[in-house]
Amino acid sequence: MSKLINDIDKELFEKAKLALDRAYSPYSKYSVGAAVRTSTGDVFTGCNIENAAYGLTICAERVALFKAVSEGKRDIVELYVIINDDILPSPCGSCRQVISELAPDARITLVTVDGKHKEYSVKELLPNAFTLDKDE
Ligand code: THU
Repeated sequence: MSKLINDIDKELFEKAKLALDRAYSPYSKYSVGAAVRTSTGDVFTGCNIENAAYGLTICAERVALFKAVSEGKRDIVELYVIINDDILPSPCGSCRQVISELAPDARITLVTVDGKHKEYSVKELLPNAFTLDKDE
């Protein structure tokens, strides 16, 4: 069951929504926004950015994660992903792999602009993720 809007993290919801408005998706016309928060409270946002050479497209989740990591912030505790639809977004397989490496302990919230949302752990989204770590 999806939760109601009052359970939502307002800051991440609003910032992910602003990022959604900045999506560059002229080819798919499918806009996605994302926002991550680190353990020290820093927030980084991302949107999907497409290209006429379609394979160069990057998803909103990875933009937000890469912005955090490139600013030296790796302890990501929350990730919000938002779309402007009634159905919840679902991170693609590539994003799940990147999330599992860069934000393994994050709580992932998938949300619509109306505030319908559902939370997941990284393991729930990608069980048995690929890793080079032999102890995993
Ligand atoms: N997309 C994302 O940004 N995140 C997802 O989780 C799924 C897909 C983007 C990529 C592309 O620009 C558009 O949505 C349609 O696939």
